[in-house]
Amino acid sequence: MKKSTVIPSVARKSWAIDRSKNQKNPKQKSQTMNYTEKIKESATFIKSRLPKNPDVAIVLGSGLGDLAEQIQNPIVMPYASIPNFMQSTAVGHKGNLIYGELGGKAVLAMQGRFHYYEGYSMEQVTLPIRVMNALGISTLFVSNAAGGINPEFRVGDLMIIEDQINLMPNPLVGKNMEEFGPRFPDMTRPYDLDLIKTCKKIAEQQDISLQEGVYVGGTGPSYETPAEYKYFRIIGGDAVGMSTVPEVIVARHGSMRVFGMSVITNEGFNFTHDFVNDENDVVEAAGKAAKKMTVLFTEMIRSL
Ligand code: HPA
Repeated sequence: MKKSTVIPSVARKSWAIDRSKNQKNPKQKSQTMNYTEKIKESATFIKSRLPKNPDVAIVLGSGLGDLAEQIQNPIVMPYASIPNFMQSTAVGHKGNLIYGELGGKAVLAMQGRFHYYEGYSMEQVTLPIRVMNALGISTLFVSNAAGGINPEFRVGDLMIIEDQINLMPNPLVGKNMEEFGPRFPDMTRPYDLDLIKTCKKIAEQQDISLQEGVYVGGTGPSYETPAEYKYFRIIGGDAVGMSTVPEVIVARHGSMRVFGMSVITNEGFNFTHDFVNDENDVVEAAGKAAKKMTVLFTEMIRSL
């Protein structure tokens, strides 16, 4: 039998001393703050590090970090350095907030996001969006890797998200944050119609083909069964993923303009007998399509 380890009392004592020291640490102080105070604290921290207020915020999904490499004069803030930000534990998510120039504008990009399936609360998942809103950023670009459920879709396709279906807990449940928006925010146009138009125009100029469709957001982390993919198609979905929807609800609550794009990384139909969904294949497929998405986002931001 394995011998159990007894922590000597000296070690225990020194651990206790360390902990009390930690109370001076801002992260420790954060534990006693309410959500609004946390948002303010994160925003103040980020603002103090930026030469100017960003025009646009970008959330980069699994394997889509490529765009971050194109940001000029970057200021990189690891999530671990930002008060109240969580850690990115998902595959293909680097965990940096990057400020810099893209398409001639000042942007703030999340290289990796927080997911509900990581065990984070909806408040934690959407805190960065509240912070971007508090920083005065009015336009948000979101991206993700998604499973195609429209049988016309193929791996590597880019899909403009025209609408979404929420199958996760709604992040606005709880006391309404009046300083951001109303109790019952309108969701008739979650994705900005002008930005969709601009994207189509640029795609045509750049000879990039696009799909358009409805994104279904589920909790994951298990991939869908064939019956579930079929069901998501029946309820009106074209692609399915495990993110984005809570961020978009919170962004719209705060009246941000949103543009969304999915990269189709796997096909949720016509499974061959040996097919399995694998997270590494998903990240690889996203990485291959990331360049096209980078061109579109950059030129769209230039046109703002
Ligand atoms: N299902 C859910 N999330 C995903 C998928 C999928 O098939 N592909 C990439 N993210």
